[in-house]
Amino acid sequence: RKRIGILTSGGDCGGLNAVTRAVVHRARHYNMDVFGIRDSTLGLMSRPVDAELLDLKRISGILRYGGTILGTTNKGNPFAFPMPDGSLLDRSHEITNGYHELELDALIGIGGDGSLAILSKLAQQGNWNLVAVPKTIDNDLGATESSIGFITAVEVATEALDRLNYTAASHSRVMILEVMGRDAGHIAISAGIAGGADAILIPEIPYSMDKLCHRIEDRAKRGRNHSLVVVAEAVKTETGEPVKFINSLGQSLYGGIGQYIADRISVCTGAETRVTTLGHLQRGGKPSPMDRLIGTAFGVRVVDLIAEERFDRMVAWQQRQVVDVPIADAIAQYRAVEVDGTLVKTALGVGAYIGEVEN
Ligand code: F6P
Repeated sequence: RKRIGILTSGGDCGGLNAVTRAVVHRARHYNMDVFGIRDSTLGLMSRPVDAELLDLKRISGILRYGGTILGTTNKGNPFAFPMPDGSLLDRSHEITNGYHELELDALIGIGGDGSLAILSKLAQQGNWNLVAVPKTIDNDLGATESSIGFITAVEVATEALDRLNYTAASHSRVMILEVMGRDAGHIAISAGIAGGADAILIPEIPYSMDKLCHRIEDRAKRGRNHSLVVVAEAVKTETGEPVKFINSLGQSLYGGIGQYIADRISVCTGAETRVTTLGHLQRGGKPSPMDRLIGTAFGVRVVDLIAEERFDRMVAWQQRQVVDVPIADAIAQYRAVEVDGTLVKTALGVGAYIGEVEN
């Protein structure tokens, strides 16, 4: 019997358990054993290796769960692993040893571009077999139209706008919603359109504070004394400075630009503003049907790739089909929001302010 490992790496998101469940089901078809590895590559570094045989009982019901039953981490790059004394150690060989200790024939890595780059380097260096599944709420992997977790995040952000609209209208306020997206504005533009935002600020398009304020004032003149503004976390100040929230320990964490935009709007329009930083609510909770569907399709196909011995490949969603592409190509293809694409045109078409672009 072939033995395959599966791990989730990087931030959690909706749909990860759908992949795990589908992998276990599909592996039964090929008489393969599936080992769930704990906390990404940390499980392969542990001695004994921290992994469990996944059977049908273990995956029962998990399709509906948020998070990942395997655990995950976005800390601890094995090529520069932070040690207790503050030094960085190359522990990559421990992962390869862990792979062999489990006697694996292949490993399924579920991750975003950063995790997949590390896994791919590990597999090449250790000469073992890797196949990959894309996941990131940021949806910035160019090879796939949708990465696991993105659609769930858009749903959460859209629902947040639906809720904020009531408070905006009741209190005559400008409500600002800051959404995730480490580098790209995909969640912001999709949720902004679906949730009827009056302004959508994304890192791909520069904005003018004056124009944004005029737009809000124009609405007020027309009797619309409330507005909804969506801001992607990667948006910078008008002059291009990054804004970061620094906590009392001096750590720079997610969030901050929403408050900057709110303060500027208050000053230039006199409107009352409030900020909601949606944060990790976008990652957890019940996965959307589409993330479950795509996750399940990915899980089935990725096991087929192992059965066909087609390694170093990542499954991808293109035109309602699962295809597969070389992992190296997938990592190289970053996708930003297309400035002259359909979504920007759509936002403009319904009168949203989306920054300094031709309408
Ligand atoms: O990449 C996914 C993501 O949720 C980004 O949108 C966000 O910038 C980041 O991870 C947050 O990471 P953490 O959970 O480590 O705060």
